[in-house]
Amino acid sequence: MVPGDGIGPEVAEATVRALAATGVEIEWERVELTGELIVASHGELPPWVIESLERTKLGLKGPVTTPIAGGYQSVNVVLRKRLDLFANVRPVRNMPGLKTRYQDVPIDMVIFRENTEDLYAGLEHEVVKDVVTSLKVITRFASERIARYAFHYTRAAGRRKITAVHKANIMKLSDGMFLRCCREVAREYPEIEYKELIVDNASMQLVMRPEQFDVLLMPNLYGDIVSDLAAGLVGGLGMVPGANMGEKHAVFEAVHGSAPDIAGRGIANPTALMLSSVMMLEHLGERAAAERLQRAIEAVYTEGTRLTRDVGGQASTSQFTDAVIAKL
Ligand code: NAI
Repeated sequence: MVPGDGIGPEVAEATVRALAATGVEIEWERVELTGELIVASHGELPPWVIESLERTKLGLKGPVTTPIAGGYQSVNVVLRKRLDLFANVRPVRNMPGLKTRYQDVPIDMVIFRENTEDLYAGLEHEVVKDVVTSLKVITRFASERIARYAFHYTRAAGRRKITAVHKANIMKLSDGMFLRCCREVAREYPEIEYKELIVDNASMQLVMRPEQFDVLLMPNLYGDIVSDLAAGLVGGLGMVPGANMGEKHAVFEAVHGSAPDIAGRGIANPTALMLSSVMMLEHLGERAAAERLQRAIEAVYTEGTRLTRDVGGQASTSQFTDAVIAKL
């Protein structure tokens, strides 16, 4: 358990309580990782974080603050690269009972975001004063790997369609390579409908007709932006879970960040991390408990009387959590 900082410890505690109420016995090893710690260690990932995750191969993680426009590299990005958590998987669904602009639209998609390269390689450089370049790294290896992972998942989950999102009309070499890899893998899965959309059009389509999407497959930067857009369709960042998957390791974390604007006030919505823990239970083979926790969360939303403020309610983090536990 990496509680993180900002609202991280609040939603982590809520999730630990909900998981305990499922009856699954989890022995938590709590590992400190905060923005302040990174500054104190001059940008180095603390060794105990890697040591713990390498040994247990499994993590549930809260957000960690990253300084904006300066300071050290995002520790989240460094961690994903270090453990080679190459696939970021983010299911986006309407929550039964939750009132949103799209409540009557059947939104049920899964975003697969490549997690280790692209503009997040962190290779930036000032060529001469006031002229900066940022390298976008796209490799065949990583593109094929994320495409294969997405197609494999789609087949296993009985889903039908994959849309690759790109900007290969402009970035012909880098996004062109990503797209070629997607096409090649798509040929191995003839039963899955394969489509491509340019990222600007995809953004518009997501807002106009989100129900047309099933599985979305994209490089790192578009995946980051499009996930927040998609979260906005289903009630906001408090609602969308995620998983960072590698060959050997899995770290489950919500899409949202440390939300400094509401941190420490006991009002954060723990749903996103709780749903991430549902994904973790599934990964562990605890299907029944995963299903029960999912249903308990849905029941609280359907009742609608103990929701947090970001989704139109009045409840605190702990009141919402108590309601989920009562349903369990
Ligand atoms: P953010 O996701 O923290 O917050 C955006 C907005 O959504 C804020 O108004 C916040 O109050 C709201 N929000 C987010 N999660 C919520 C929740 N669970 N319940 C209720 N409201 C919620 O994004 P922001 O402000 O751009 O980033 C803040 C910090 O988090 C930055 O330092 C950023 O680098 C970091 N970050 C870390 C991530 C991670 O650790 N995986 C992911 C994204 C951002």
